[in-house]
Amino acid sequence: MLLENKVAVIYGGGGSIGGATARVFAREGARLFLAGRSRARLEAAASVARREGAEVEIAVVDAMDQDAVDRHVTAVADATGHIDIALNAVGFDHQQGLAIADTSLEDYLYPVTGYLQTNFVTAKAVARQMRSQGSGVILTVSTPGSRLTGRGLIGNAAQSSGLEGFSRALAGELGPDGVRVVCVRPHALKDASDTSYTGVMFGRIADMSGLSREEWVAGLAATTLLGRLPLRAEVAEYLAFAASDRAASMTGVIANLSAGALVD
Ligand SMILES: NC(=O)c1ccc[n+]([C@@H]2O[C@H](COP(=O)([O-])OP(=O)(O)OC[C@H]3O[C@@H](n4cnc5c(N)ncnc54)[C@H](OP(=O)(O)O)[C@@H]3O)[C@@H](O)[C@H]2O)c1
Repeated sequence: MLLENKVAVIYGGGGSIGGATARVFAREGARLFLAGRSRARLEAAASVARREGAEVEIAVVDAMDQDAVDRHVTAVADATGHIDIALNAVGFDHQQGLAIADTSLEDYLYPVTGYLQTNFVTAKAVARQMRSQGSGVILTVSTPGSRLTGRGLIGNAAQSSGLEGFSRALAGELGPDGVRVVCVRPHALKDASDTSYTGVMFGRIADMSGLSREEWVAGLAATTLLGRLPLRAEVAEYLAFAASDRAASMTGVIANLSAGALVD
C-alpha cells in the first residue's frame, strides 16, 4: 500500500475531491482526519473511507480560521505524534463568466482572498508540525484558470495563479526541512457536477450562453486532447501517488491533470 502508517489530514474532506481522495488514501493504508464545514458530508465521506478499512476521524473546522485550524492540527498531532500529509480541498461557489465591466470588486476578490486565505491558514498550521518532524507533504488544488484566457475568468485566473505561486514558493521555503509541496491542477471534473459547488456555478455560466449545463460541459470536454474531462478518482489516485514516498523527489510541482486542455 502506498500510504501505510501515514497520517493524512484533509480540509474540505466531505467535498467531491476531498471525499474521493479520502477513499483512495484509506485504501492505500492512511489514517485519516477529515475536516470541513458540514458534519453530514464529513460523515458520508468517512463512512466510505472506513469501508476501505481505514481509521477515520472527522471534525467540523472552519478552514478560513487560523486559530481553529491550529487547534485542530495540534489535536491531530497530539493524538498521532505526526502528520504526514495535508490536503486542502476546500471549495466554494463564486462568480465566473462575467466581463470585467459587469463584475464587482467584491465578486472579483471573493475567490482570490478565499482560496488564498484557506490555503495559507492550513499550510501554516501543518507546516509548523511537519518542520518539527522533518518530513511531510502539503497538497493544494488549483484550476486551469491559471493558464487560460478569455472573458469571465479574471477572478478564477487570479485565484489559481496566486495559489500556484504560493505552492511553488512554499516548496522552496519548506524543502530544506524535508517538507514537499505538490499542487494539482485538474480541469472541470466530469463526475462532480451534482456534488461540487461547480455544478451550480457551471449552470450559471451555461445560462449566460443560452446552453444547458450539460451542453456547456460537453463544450469544455471537446477542448481537451483526450476529448473528455477528468474524473474525481483520477485526481485522487494522482494525489495518493504524490503524497507517497514513491514521489519522494517531487516538490514545487504544478501537476497538469487537465486531460490535455493545457499542454506544458
Ligand atoms: N470540481 C471541479 O470541477 C474542480 C476542478 C478543478 C479544481 N477544483 C478545485 O478543487 C477544490 C475542491 O473542489 P470540489 O469540487 O471538491 O468542491 P466541493 O465538492 O464543493 O467541496 C468543497 C468542500 O469544501 C468545504 N468547505 C467550504 N468552505 C469551507 C470552510 N470555510 N471550512 C472548511 N471546509 C469548507 C465544503 O464544505 P460544505 O460541504 O459544508 O459546503 C465542501 O465539503 C477547489 O479548490 C476547486 O477550485 C475543482
